Amino acid sequence: MVATDEDGAAAEPEYDEAAIRFLGVLWGEGYLSPGGPAEVDRVLAGVDLGGKRVLDFGCGAGGITLHIAKTYRSADIVGYDVEQPVIDRARAAAVAAGLSSIAQFVSSPPGRLPFADEQFDVVFSKDAMIHVSDKQALFAELFRVLKPGGVFAASDWLIGHDGEPSPDMKDYIAAEGLSFGMASSRRYLRAMAAAGFVDCTAESRNGWYREVARGELARLKGPLHDEAVAAVGAAYVEKNIRTWTAMQKVLDSGEHCPTHLRANKPAAGERL
Ligand SMILES: C[S@@+](CC[C@H](N)C(=O)[O-])C[C@H]1O[C@@H](n2cnc3c(N)ncnc32)[C@H](O)[C@@H]1O
Repeated sequence: MVATDEDGAAAEPEYDEAAIRFLGVLWGEGYLSPGGPAEVDRVLAGVDLGGKRVLDFGCGAGGITLHIAKTYRSADIVGYDVEQPVIDRARAAAVAAGLSSIAQFVSSPPGRLPFADEQFDVVFSKDAMIHVSDKQALFAELFRVLKPGGVFAASDWLIGHDGEPSPDMKDYIAAEGLSFGMASSRRYLRAMAAAGFVDCTAESRNGWYREVARGELARLKGPLHDEAVAAVGAAYVEKNIRTWTAMQKVLDSGEHCPTHLRANKPAAGERL
């Protein structure tokens, strides 16, 4: 288990070089969450990014940030993360892809974001907010940095309820060994509304990821096994096979709920 501070962020990087290599084999180079570009495109469906300023909160190794920069012709995109190894990877990938003029990467300790008020037209995030346990403070910050009329579009890993996690869920969280601060969609929607967001929605993606994860585990035990062992060693792969097995139980029970979230910041004239 990695040491964490009181906001749930790691004192040592959780997404270190080994994690980046392992997840790159499983989910694609630079991706630290499942679904690849198709799932990102689904999170962003209908959002106009052309010529806009975008924040990618918890950008990780930058695979998604660079996909957005390439595909959506945003004016620029800032990838923000609290960990240095992922930011170093993302910066190098932006240079290699010739995208460093539109994709910048910024790191700072967790808490207040290192951006002035009303900087971004769109705040995007993929499976990173799970690491911030204080959802009210999180959404207050995301609201602060969005311009009036801006859009919030994200995916995150939620839990199906706000009670005591089941023994299976506790086993899964312990197997991950990551600083998870999971909450239900009810808590997310309440925190979003309390921050001032309107038109807040949550769409469960459990049905989708439940089947995708089953395939990931099968590939990890089968066709991807040797490549994963070459990347991170046999013990690391075995640990993750145990983690995926524990995760499948709570995906199948519905307690682990990957979810898409959407909301708008009211335009200046619409504020109460
Ligand atoms: C599962 S990874 C997802 C990364 C990336 N969004 C992706 O999908 O490839 C979670 C990311 O959240 C970052 N993170 C953890 N605590 C954070 C915080 N307080 N603020 C912003 N990012 C955080 C981690 O460093 C990690 O890069």
